Amino acid sequence: MADVSSAAATDGATIATPINLILIALLMILAYYRLSPKTALTLPTPPAPTVFKTFTPPDLEPYNGRNNMPVYLAVRGRVFDVTPGRNFYGPGGPYANFAGRDASRGLACGSFDEDMLTKDLNGPLDTLSDLGDEEMEALRGWEERFSEKYLVVGKLVHVGSDEANDATPAEKL
Ligand code: HEM
Repeated sequence: MADVSSAAATDGATIATPINLILIALLMILAYYRLSPKTALTLPTPPAPTVFKTFTPPDLEPYNGRNNMPVYLAVRGRVFDVTPGRNFYGPGGPYANFAGRDASRGLACGSFDEDMLTKDLNGPLDTLSDLGDEEMEALRGWEERFSEKYLVVGKLVHVGSDEANDATPAEKL
């Protein structure tokens, strides 16, 4: 009896030899590569690196989610990449009017009206100087939320400013 149990114990011990463990590990690695050949062969396209750029309103406008473009919007001169919120800002979304635009006034006033958007993209930026404390407070709230949720990818400057002339948006290179 004692011999049988000691043989079983020995058998158990021999299975877990270092060689066997290495072989099992190799088998698992092989099985992994065999079962997921696509991940090894077709690398996913890496996201475009985030480069801080200077945008004028016409530069920003195409970033409205149409034609597979990312979605950007500006709040008080800061351009946010709101592509992860495409459902909100992309085509057909409830806030699509802000896509590719300076959304400051609309957010401050809580309005989607067309006249919240700067009409002349080649003109001066909206200074918001006519807005009251309450509206500016609301705008700061949105900015805070965006800063936590989205990446800042650039700054918005008016057409013809020195910064606009110095900077060359990547898509024009
Ligand atoms: C009928 C009134 C409205 C309803 C029912 C509504 C509903 C919502 C809901 C459900 C969300 C998603 C919240 C979340 O999951 O984080 C949201 C987010 C948002 N709403 Fe509204 N909303 C209304 C009015 C407005 C107005 C007037 C504005 C400003 C013009 C506005 C701007 C936004 C923005 C900017 C977001 C954040 C999207 C993001 O996180 O990127 N909403 N809204």
